Amino acid sequence: MKIINFGSLNIDIFFRVNHIVRPGETISAQSIEKRAGGKGLNQSVALAKVFDKVYHAGSIGMDGAFLKDYLTGEGIDTRFIRESDIPTGNAIIQVDDKGENSIVLYKGANFDNDKEYIDEVLSNFDKNDILILQNEINNMDYIIKKGSEKEMKLVLNPSPITDEIKNFDFNKIDLLLVNETEAKEISKCDDIEKCIDYFRENYPNLKIVITLGERGSIFVSKDSKVCQNAYKVEAVDSTGAGDTFTGFFVAEFYQNNDIKKCLEFATKASALSVTKQGASISIPSMKEVEKFNGDIL
Ligand code: RIB
Repeated sequence: MKIINFGSLNIDIFFRVNHIVRPGETISAQSIEKRAGGKGLNQSVALAKVFDKVYHAGSIGMDGAFLKDYLTGEGIDTRFIRESDIPTGNAIIQVDDKGENSIVLYKGANFDNDKEYIDEVLSNFDKNDILILQNEINNMDYIIKKGSEKEMKLVLNPSPITDEIKNFDFNKIDLLLVNETEAKEISKCDDIEKCIDYFRENYPNLKIVITLGERGSIFVSKDSKVCQNAYKVEAVDSTGAGDTFTGFFVAEFYQNNDIKKCLEFATKASALSVTKQGASISIPSMKEVEKFNGDIL
């Protein structure tokens, strides 16, 4: 089994601020840092903490070579990352005193993945492999269609939610990971139990993980439902916590059938990531997660 992540690669510019800037306001940042990010890149880093055959595909501009080097340094196979004429995707991230964030994205090269390139990448994988996707690159519906034709196991974290989501065929997805807002938006339901009913009725073969912030997370399939509490931690920066959860959960889920353990493992990893600044650099090691002995909220 190999895991191929077709996903975004961003240059994250972090501004540490007292509060997220309001419309019309100008404020000064306490610090500024340039880091490797993007939901795709972060999830590859998290996957590689747990699993050793992780491949990343996606596009960077000439300014993004350090992102590829960073992934290589994390043990990820980067042979499929290609250079585009368009500048690398950027994220302007404000993080406030409570560790909460606000992000402005520039898509850049992340939206320069053409069908020929996608076909070429996928020709290296087959039905024994996992294809993981977020929603920060173009041609998502095409990648879903092609991955499914190859009978790969498809994992989708449709974040950030955009209008394109209505073109995604969830029947082709094996595992969907969403937060509460995303679950409500996709299902058009205002209550989590109703969201679960919606997914079970419309996509009976879909397995879903819904993260609920301080209320933990739920795994749902056609015949099972498993709940997990969140852990109490000192929040420094929540950026990338969802990506950490996704990477740890997915890598563990396809190797281990114990859903409760997978949820607990991913929850601990994401709790630890919140205690450090940054997105990809805050992702803990497997050892740190195994040692973590936090209190449940
Ligand atoms: O999920 C966090 C990520 O979202 C950041 O790294 C940023 O690049 C945005 O894509």
